[in-house]
Parts: sequence; C-alpha cells; structure tokens
Amino acid sequence: MKVIVTKNYEEMSAVAANMVAELIAAKPNCVLGLATGSTPEGMYANLVQGCKEGKIDFSAVRSVNLDEYFPIKPENDQSYRYFMNKNLFDHVNIDKANTYVPNGQAEDPQAEGARYEKIIDDLGGADLQILGIGQNGHIGFNEPGEILTAGTHLEDLTEDTIKVNSRFFASVDEVPKQAFSMGIGSIFKARSIVIMASGANKHNAIAKMLEGNVTTFCPATLLNLHPNVTLICDEAAYNG
Ligand code: F6R
Repeated sequence: MKVIVTKNYEEMSAVAANMVAELIAAKPNCVLGLATGSTPEGMYANLVQGCKEGKIDFSAVRSVNLDEYFPIKPENDQSYRYFMNKNLFDHVNIDKANTYVPNGQAEDPQAEGARYEKIIDDLGGADLQILGIGQNGHIGFNEPGEILTAGTHLEDLTEDTIKVNSRFFASVDEVPKQAFSMGIGSIFKARSIVIMASGANKHNAIAKMLEGNVTTFCPATLLNLHPNVTLICDEAAYNG
C-alpha cells in the first residue's frame, strides 16, 4: 500500500482531488467509485472548483457510489443520492444518468443488490474507487464481523456506526438501521483504490490497516490484498 501523509484535511483533499483530475484528463470516460461522509467533502469541493475553472471535464465520466441508507428516499437530505447531488453532481457537467447510487427504496433488497452489482460489472468496474474509513475500520458499510459479504448487499449497521452517523441527523433514532453497500468483492473490482482518512479518531483503524495483517474484524485490513491502494491521510490520522 502506498501511503501519503498530508499536513491537514485541506492538503489531503487537494491531493485526492488531483488524483481524480489526473485520471479524468487521462481517461475522460473513466468510472469513478465514490464515497460520501465528511471525509471526501473537501475533495469534492476541489473538484467542483476545478470544473468551474474549466480544468476538469466531467461530461463523459461515469460514477458508481459505494452505499446508500435503507430505507430512504433520494430526496431525503440525509440520503447519499442527495449528498452526491449537493456536493458534486449539481455543480459539475456530469450527466446524472451516468451516476449510480443504490436504490434506498428498493422493494426487494436482494434483487437490488444483484441489480447494482450488474451495474458495476457492466461499467467494467471502477477505474478509481474512493473510500473513507469508519472508526471501527468499516469500508463502505462493510461492518466488522466474522463474515464479510462479497457483493452489493443490505447490511445491518452496528450500534457504533449508527451513533457516529447520528451527528448528521436530528436524533439517533432517525438514523436508518440498514444500508446497501458494495461488498468487499465489489470494491475489489476497482483497478485502483484511494482510501482517505482525517483526524485522530481514525488513527486506530488506520494503524490496524497499516500493520499489514488481514482480519474481517477490521474490514479495511482487507485492502492489504489489493494490488493498487493508496492511503491519503493527514498527520492526525497517521500519528494519532
Ligand atoms: C460512506 C462510506 C463510509 C464512510 C465512513 C467514514 O460512503 O462508505 O464507509 O466513508 O463511515 O465516514 P466519515 O468520512 O463521515 O468519517
């Protein structure tokens, strides 16, 4: 795993945005695997800025998001579809028809998992998958446990994750208890992966991943098995 340690959140965001911009310049119709949450917000802001300045052209880019709460409507301001529109898609020249997020209103969750996995396959997998990391080491919403799922599936969120994510909701009771998530196998279909982390609260998960061992009880450690992973993290996440 390649490791880039930045001074702070702003530098982490700029470095990640540059990698995405370089990929789009080299392959205008690339497939971006995208994440939500606090970590990539600054990267998206940089990409919006780059597009406004005419330096990045999203017109042929395709995107596939990691996860979405369930059940949730896309217009709910806590949905990841809403997040993506607000933070990126509404401000760049991407064709929204080429942007994919799991359907948080799916009637048949199993069928939705299979449908979404087929979308990933039809796109040929992501050229670059962006990941954040949970304090408990989750990637996407693949929560620590004895078994990790390979493909896109409905995941029960852990109490930890519900508590951590409640900061975005009016109360902890409003946080959905489940989410669709790409599985570890879906994530591994990406040709390259960038995992981002900022802040001392991510240090334990980052340190565990960097030990180089693999355990399903810290899903990010599985990334040690992928041939092309770059960690971009700030000093606080790296040093604790
Ligand atoms: C979001 C996702 C999650 C987050 C993780 C960290 O699409 O897949 O794994 O990356 O929960 O969240 P933040 O960035 O809010 O600390």
